[in-house]
Amino acid sequence: MLYRYGQRMSQSTPPKNDLKEASPPAWDGQTLADPHHQSDKADRVRQMFTSIAGSYDLNNRVHSFLLDQRWRKAAVKKAAVQAGDVVVDVACGTGDLAEAFAASHASAVIGIDFTHAMLERARYRQHQLQDHRYSKLFYIEGDAMALPLDDACCDVVSIAFGLRNVQRPEAAIGEFARVLRPGGRLVILEFDRPRLAPIRWGHDLYTKVIMPRTATWISGDRSGAYRYLPRSVETFLTRDRVVGLMQAAGLEEVAAKSLSGGICACYLGRKR
Ligand SMILES: C[S@@+](CC[C@H](N)C(=O)[O-])C[C@H]1O[C@@H](n2cnc3c(N)ncnc32)[C@H](O)[C@@H]1O
Repeated sequence: MLYRYGQRMSQSTPPKNDLKEASPPAWDGQTLADPHHQSDKADRVRQMFTSIAGSYDLNNRVHSFLLDQRWRKAAVKKAAVQAGDVVVDVACGTGDLAEAFAASHASAVIGIDFTHAMLERARYRQHQLQDHRYSKLFYIEGDAMALPLDDACCDVVSIAFGLRNVQRPEAAIGEFARVLRPGGRLVILEFDRPRLAPIRWGHDLYTKVIMPRTATWISGDRSGAYRYLPRSVETFLTRDRVVGLMQAAGLEEVAAKSLSGGICACYLGRKR
């Protein structure tokens, strides 16, 4: 069996608006000093995405100037999907990358995420799409560090802007390698910081000063999500470290490519 919890669920009613809880924010000045080493990072991440799920797509489009969809298309191209391939999109969120893979030659696309509110949006979007290509999409709730999938069950694993949010990225990459068939491809999209100083300066101004204000305003967020975003990028693993983790998990021909002047990186590796 390909996956253990595999009933397709559709969502025909719009998900409810985000819960603006009275609980403390997921992120504050103290936890943002070192976001990746908080022992409860996973809970904070889930709380944050529950808070912003409803405005997530709009904020992505506005604040990336639509570049986000171009990066996802580049990732699908890199994965070189063959007719009949099974694709697993981990940390699928509201389904942008999973939908892009569904429009390729893949025979099935499984989107996995651990935030219920994000998956509800993904299922609702799928229901709205009304196109036969998207009937091969399945969304299931699960953790990147313990995928509810059998060994060697798929041809492509993808993760877009998710690895940085996982508690232990090395455990997740190990899982990705486990579920890939020999010859299968892992493709990772993740934010990066431009290496050229003038571009980095402008990028920092935008991501640390402007975007947190405008994105928080659009989402009405109180979780600290848009302060966490730039901070989690600047304190995340270097590109070489991500490449090293992929190699350590048994992937070969590992390469990283800069997109849009180094704002984003696309990693590709192949299972032996
Ligand atoms: C920035 S969003 C990216 C969503 C989507 N991939 C995209 O391209 O828009 C990060 C997603 O990672 C999910 N996530 C974080 N840690 C996870 C984990 N350990 N297992 C599964 N999903 C996780 C969050 O719930 C969230 O939906």
